[in-house]
Amino acid sequence: MIFSKKRTKTEDNGLNVIPNHLAIIMDGNGRWATKRHLPRTAGHKAGSENFVKTVDECARLGIKYLTVYAFSTENWNRNQTEVDGIMEIMRSYIVKYVPILDKKNIRLRILGDLNYFDEESRNALIASVKKLENNTAFTLCIALSYGGRHEILQAVNRLLAEGKNEVTEKEFEEALYTAGIPDPDFIIRTSGEERISNFLLWQSAYAEYYFTKVLWPDFDESELRKALVEFGKRKRRFGK
Ligand code: FPP
Repeated sequence: MIFSKKRTKTEDNGLNVIPNHLAIIMDGNGRWATKRHLPRTAGHKAGSENFVKTVDECARLGIKYLTVYAFSTENWNRNQTEVDGIMEIMRSYIVKYVPILDKKNIRLRILGDLNYFDEESRNALIASVKKLENNTAFTLCIALSYGGRHEILQAVNRLLAEGKNEVTEKEFEEALYTAGIPDPDFIIRTSGEERISNFLLWQSAYAEYYFTKVLWPDFDESELRKALVEFGKRKRRFGK
């Protein structure tokens, strides 16, 4: 549970710099399941359980924003059974955890194109975001039906529709799904793949990256700590 554990010196040894905004590409659920001769959906279930633990751990460590890549625009092309399985996990997550997130004073943002969802799921997502919008302890952003290029294009089209023909960086950022959210400082990708895969393309301009072979369901507190220790060693210059 959030804040139930005290931040002890030994446990958090080496965590001298904590990112304000951590983003995670939660990759490797499928391989985790295949290794165990389980259906891919079992990997997503294990991945979603690990996601719940990670939210608590990030809040405990004093990270203020966590963004997770849960489902990309391209993921809609996976086989229907797998897509249905992920959507089912997402719906039960909303039902079970929104009241818990509320108790923990956690704000929720969904980054992505909600038009792809059926009406019931879309309404449930919108209602959850609304219910939690005034919470202040921590912001959880779930990238769902998200694609970085898609996000940039929808921002351009929105600004054109408003009649703009020239915009500042600030105005452009306000038209992105992440409006009002600071850029990610640190982006972790699990499972050994070393690419961005259309994630936060605009926002990651100065992010530090960390790649690990560990599959997402196995990326536990100690793996997170290892990643954060590495973040603490990076010299960030922002192009200066
Ligand atoms: C990547 O692993 C993972 C996904 C495409 C889905 C992630 C979804 C969840 C963790 C559940 C979402 C639920 C909530 C509530 C956020 P992969 O399937 O690409 O794995 P592979 O690369 O090993 O095949």
